Amino acid sequence: AGNRTFTMIKPDAFEAGHSGDIIKMIEEAGFRIVAGKVTQLSAELAGKFYEVHQERPFYGELCEFMSSGPIIAMILEKDNAVEDFRTLIGATNPAEAAEGTIRKRFAKSLGENAVHGSDSDENATIEGNFFFTQFDEVGIRKVA
Ligand code: CMP
Repeated sequence: AGNRTFTMIKPDAFEAGHSGDIIKMIEEAGFRIVAGKVTQLSAELAGKFYEVHQERPFYGELCEFMSSGPIIAMILEKDNAVEDFRTLIGATNPAEAAEGTIRKRFAKSLGENAVHGSDSDENATIEGNFFFTQFDEVGIRKVA
């Protein structure tokens, strides 16, 4: 058991066929997949998901990109999940991402950066709930 974060394998990495390698890195780093699905956001839903960025100059580009193809959304569980996952994925800009991180290996650019990771426990819950209900989660983990 542990706490949770939320991730998406973004359209660039999904389209390039990197989902398997990315999930392998996630599991080898000690995360358990609690819920997951392949889906595609509409531009409207991408806009809602990234609402906090709506005043940013890249918001339109971000919503267009995130709705451009399939993604894999997942809830992940591990002690210290949010912080450890952000370490695993590396800096938002792949040019600044450390060796051995997911973005160093797979991200193409600041916008097309392969994966999302929640930036706080609060946002992990909000973002997980955007895609999943309790019925999507691995059942045994709900038995306390
Ligand atoms: P993420 O942290 O998953 O969520 C916000 C996203 O906005 C971020 O990943 C980047 O992919 C994207 N982003 C941040 N800065 C820029 C930028 N300057 N231009 C385009 N996209 C950006």
